[in-house]
Amino acid sequence: MRKKIVAGNWKMNLEYAEGVSLFSEIVNMVRDERNGDQLAVICAPFIHLNSLVQLGTDVVGIGAQNCHQKESGAYTGEISAKMIKSVGCGYVIIGHSERRQYFAETDELLAEKTNIALANGLVPLFCIGETLDERNNGSYFEVLKTQLEKGLFGLSAEDFAKVVIAYEPVWAIGTGLTATAEQAQEVHAFIRKEIAAKYDEAIADGTTILYGGSCNPKNAAELFAQPDIDGGLIGGASLKSRDFVDIVKTFNA
Ligand code: PGA
Repeated sequence: MRKKIVAGNWKMNLEYAEGVSLFSEIVNMVRDERNGDQLAVICAPFIHLNSLVQLGTDVVGIGAQNCHQKESGAYTGEISAKMIKSVGCGYVIIGHSERRQYFAETDELLAEKTNIALANGLVPLFCIGETLDERNNGSYFEVLKTQLEKGLFGLSAEDFAKVVIAYEPVWAIGTGLTATAEQAQEVHAFIRKEIAAKYDEAIADGTTILYGGSCNPKNAAELFAQPDIDGGLIGGASLKSRDFVDIVKTFNA
């Protein structure tokens, strides 16, 4: 059985005290209300990570939203995977479309970041997704395949098995437009097929593939009921404890 994960991505939101308060609410609600084996994770801005870890990684896992591709050194303003691990985080988002778009992160760079995250014992939540143009002109399978091949398929089978993939159609992020359950399932099945072709069926079966893009408490159940959707990466709705925990609880139903 592959892991079911609901991961929140706070993006560049929440001052220090707001983050502590929201996370405390989420931890308490998840502790009281969870009754399945799904895993909740919050990926927060760097300034929050240390204090969130003190509040309970046993109930809700903690991740960063990015890391630098080098181990350490003269990279002013950057944060390494080793530093993230050293505060007790278990996860890091790699290759979010906002990083690809606004910070010019390429597939090659993301492969380096994935390597360094794995080398430091972090689980990469590796994002792929097509733009609206690529969806409309029918090139999305090609685009996704290239992102997988360049970003992830250089990994050994042993390392690849530690990665979580998030399919996030760029046109659905923060727009209120969600991929339909059928559209998302089609892509998730495609991703799993590509993994099986590159590695093997067992690895493909074991890979957790999350859906992200305007996922909310209303549409989560239908999305998560699809055979190849193993949870979600949640942006906007992770900033409200009730919404986020309701999405986590979708797996209880
Ligand atoms: P959204 O963001 O849920 O606000 O669409 C998802 C994401 O960017 O991870």
